[in-house]
Amino acid sequence: MIRKAVIPAAGFGTRFLPATKAQPKEMLSVVDQPLIQYGVEEAVGAGIKSIGVIIGRGKSAIEDHFDRSPELERFLEEKQKTDYLEEVRRISNLAEFCYIRQKEALGLGHAILMAEDYIGNEPFAVLLPDDIFDCEKPCIRQLIDVYSEYNASVIVLGRTDEEGTKKYGIIKPKQITERVFQVEDLVEKPGPEKAFSDLAVIGRYVFTPEIFEAIKQTEPDNKGEIQITDAIKLLLENQLVYGYLFEGKRYDAGDKLGFIQATVELALKRPEFANKLRNHIKNC
Ligand code: G1P
Repeated sequence: MIRKAVIPAAGFGTRFLPATKAQPKEMLSVVDQPLIQYGVEEAVGAGIKSIGVIIGRGKSAIEDHFDRSPELERFLEEKQKTDYLEEVRRISNLAEFCYIRQKEALGLGHAILMAEDYIGNEPFAVLLPDDIFDCEKPCIRQLIDVYSEYNASVIVLGRTDEEGTKKYGIIKPKQITERVFQVEDLVEKPGPEKAFSDLAVIGRYVFTPEIFEAIKQTEPDNKGEIQITDAIKLLLENQLVYGYLFEGKRYDAGDKLGFIQATVELALKRPEFANKLRNHIKNC
């Protein structure tokens, strides 16, 4: 049973500057909801009720977004803007939230380690807010199902190209079923020459609690950051780890172009925008 999820949201969002100079990257809006809300809704859709968000300085807008907003609610009530009122209330009721500070930007592995006390000794999910998944069965639910079957940590995989080997962790796979792979080795952003395969790690994980010990033993990389990929490599010394080729679509909203593509494609899926937007793009 996976009860809790961790969403790391403490980075500076440098790839989005200047938009992220004074607001969290995770609060940038994709169509009409902030990036982080996609991850939260996915976790909630998978049955997760408690979410630990790793934050840093300047991230309080995230806390406000998932909190009650009595003044706004009163205003919307008075103006009889019922749809907005319901939506605003729904967001604040999505899950229980716990905010944990990462005081220094020491990498994704380090950010996840900050959740050790919150998680305790149980398996948990991790969702990186940069990745938006559009799947019939929530992507993290797909991983949880694999976890339940194999009783081991699972990471989500997607096929990538040469460019992707510079952006993602890449695994050395041993195929088990059509979509399940045993991870024999993995390396962070190896580049095309050193990549083991075209199977990339793309932002969703289910971990056994032993990952925390592995993170503690992980050496920082050459930028001084503790990478979760390196911690998983250490975990492999003691436990099996699986990869799962998910079913559905994923948008990489982690850089400006991917973010724009995600915005356009998700807007095209919305009936109220689809035709007008398509016509507009044709005429650009
Ligand atoms: C992180 C992980 C990387 C993974 C990627 C998925 O990298 O370190 O292994 O492939 O997320 O989006 P980042 O995008 O934070 O540089």
